[in-house]
Amino acid sequence: MKDRLKKIKEEAISDIKSLSNLESLENIRIKYMGKKGKLTSVLREMGKVPKEERPVVGQLANEIRQEIEKELSGARENFKEKLKQEKIEKEKIDVTITKRTKKLGHSHPLLSTIEELENLFISMGFSVVEGPEIETVEYNFDALNSPENHPSRDLSDTFYLTENILLRTHTSPVQIRAMKTMKPPLKIVSAGRTFRFDDVDDTHSPMFHQLEGLVIDEKVTMANLIDTIDIFIKELFGKDMETRFRPHHFPFTEPSAEVDVSCFSCKGKGCPVCDGTGWSMELLGCGMVHPKVLENCGIDPEKYSGFAFGMGIDRITMVKYGLDDIRLLFENDNRFLEQF
Ligand code: PHE
Repeated sequence: MKDRLKKIKEEAISDIKSLSNLESLENIRIKYMGKKGKLTSVLREMGKVPKEERPVVGQLANEIRQEIEKELSGARENFKEKLKQEKIEKEKIDVTITKRTKKLGHSHPLLSTIEELENLFISMGFSVVEGPEIETVEYNFDALNSPENHPSRDLSDTFYLTENILLRTHTSPVQIRAMKTMKPPLKIVSAGRTFRFDDVDDTHSPMFHQLEGLVIDEKVTMANLIDTIDIFIKELFGKDMETRFRPHHFPFTEPSAEVDVSCFSCKGKGCPVCDGTGWSMELLGCGMVHPKVLENCGIDPEKYSGFAFGMGIDRITMVKYGLDDIRLLFENDNRFLEQF
């Protein structure tokens, strides 16, 4: 009996030593100490052991049971520790690594200006419409009453795609599209890219941006035009800004004017920036829509009149953000763009 017990002990210990995971530990406990376990069945046979030997055998059996239990719990602890170490290793984070955060972008300064202008006009009752950047010669020039020999039509001034298709040189063809598709009264603005064959310098770019406005209704007068532009300028740049309308010529408006506003630096007092005049020149072009243009779009000039205006958005953006070079707006240099 003693030998059997000792053999069971050796067997159990070598079983425990060869274990590879925590789950099989429990199997070993059952194998030796469970109801039908090896040790348990030997103990059941205690009755067969001569009485005088029983205490000794009993003590030995107890010792063996304790030893096996000790081995088992030791192995259990080892496994748990091993798993813990593996987990720590797996979940280790290097706090010195710089976090790769996704940067949230924001509107380009030009887009912010466009949105600001559009919102201003929306608050004055205008709707926003869009027009294509690739236009027909008819809408860009003919329907706008531009004479055959007008210098802007020249191949050296305009990007022609074919004889009849071009990159629009201004946003005014949107006027034609609006008048041909919408019935008066209408009150629209439209902003977007425009293209002219210009050499690049600090104030010129072959691609630039304009915003066009058009109002058509019965009894629209020059007074409405002047008032609209004046309110717009004061809302955009401040109540102390004055406007000045200088006679000008555009084929599609009559009479026409160019608008100057108080110098942005000195607010009209006269300074080196404005050559002492107190005015920032040519901020926008405007006029009363030419009767021929209304006719070209099927609108009766006897019944309806209207005004139109167009302005350079790049220039306004430069004034707004204090930029001295238009190229900054198109180079997409993040060091510049991130400042806004
Ligand atoms: N289209 C003109 C330009 O590009 C501006 C303008 C628009 C003038 C509307 C009068 C009316 O210079």
